[in-house]
Amino acid sequence: MVVGVAARVGEVEYAIREVAALAAKLSKSGVKIIPLNIGDPVKFDFKTPSHIKDALVKAVLEEHNMYGPSEGLPELREAVSERLAGMGADIVEDDIIITNGISEGIQMLTGVLVEAGDEILVPSPSYPSYNAYIRFYGGKAVSYRTVEEEGWAPDIEHLRSRVSKRTKAVLLINPNNPTGALYDVKTIKEVVQVAAENNLILIADEIYDEIVFDGSFTPAASVAKDVNFIGLNGFSKAHLMTGWRLGYIYLKDGESRLKEVKEGLLRLARVRLCPNTPVQKAGVAALKGSRDHIRDMVAKLRERRDFSLKAVEEIEVLSSATPNGAFYLFPKINLKGTKWATDKEFVLDLLKETGVVVVHGSGFGDYGSDHFRMVFLPPLDVLGEAFEKIKAFIKSHYRG
Ligand SMILES: Cc1ncc(COP(=O)(O)O)c(C=O)c1O
Repeated sequence: MVVGVAARVGEVEYAIREVAALAAKLSKSGVKIIPLNIGDPVKFDFKTPSHIKDALVKAVLEEHNMYGPSEGLPELREAVSERLAGMGADIVEDDIIITNGISEGIQMLTGVLVEAGDEILVPSPSYPSYNAYIRFYGGKAVSYRTVEEEGWAPDIEHLRSRVSKRTKAVLLINPNNPTGALYDVKTIKEVVQVAAENNLILIADEIYDEIVFDGSFTPAASVAKDVNFIGLNGFSKAHLMTGWRLGYIYLKDGESRLKEVKEGLLRLARVRLCPNTPVQKAGVAALKGSRDHIRDMVAKLRERRDFSLKAVEEIEVLSSATPNGAFYLFPKINLKGTKWATDKEFVLDLLKETGVVVVHGSGFGDYGSDHFRMVFLPPLDVLGEAFEKIKAFIKSHYRG
């Protein structure tokens, strides 16, 4: 007899890797795959900088291979605190907990905050881990709309209308995944205002804060004055350490209103023992060392973004807002006049017929449907080949 599992497992979905599973199967059978589905720069021509790699090797050779403190190494917490201070957010080391990637932080935070029936307001479309973990812990991820015509900025009135008696927190992801939207100060202040009016925790995920093309990034912690604030950030993207798994949670807690949340996080940090010790040493090197790799990455990505936007414009049926941060394009598919009823059908057919892997927009929430997400991480020749295939694929099926 098949062994049963907890019903909550059924709540966990992660569209990005689901499409990858089908791509892996096709690749095994000899189909050439062009992977534009996973947000990992290290898979392309962006490599972990040598000073960070050297620091990891040195840490291992110098025997920093033991368990460390559950909340993270003091020198890394100090370096994170300095970084945040430099961005206008005064967060003491004691209010910083190091995690094995933001992903672990999301699981810990939702595990601490969400009682059955609790609601968290999440932007839609957005990164699916939050929805998955909120549901896993018995809560409800309540979507608030972001508006494509306004560069995917949050619809503040819609956000306000989604607050209920069970709402515990509001999530902001800036720059956003999958839309690449970069929010201006006014927008952030409006979200802070909704949180303050309703006594909600403001959670901000700012993992793409250094990957910005036009405009400037404003850390939510620097404008979140009278609000309970929890931030998440990490080293995967800007410091090209995706596979190493390093991130952090920080609490802005002048009046100790978050002291139980912090204690809860520390309890969970203890049961998972500790973050990876030598990788934390490399994290210190990343924060204190050269930042040239970030400048170079942003310059390359800007060129690839512009190339991709132009290519999308030239394809009948597709259109896209301009992403001002991160490395995703989120084109709209005008499905009318095509053979596809949904974005998922489009994405699966595209994969099967051309080997180009993108993710269906509906995998990022209700307001993502009729879109797909692609990374513009590959070099221009690969992007060019992918767009040629997408163009020919659409042409061969278009009836409009
Ligand atoms: C918004 C957002 N948060 C968190 C993560 C995961 O970060 P980490 O690698 O630190 O677990 C991602 C990865 O794509 C992301 O897009």
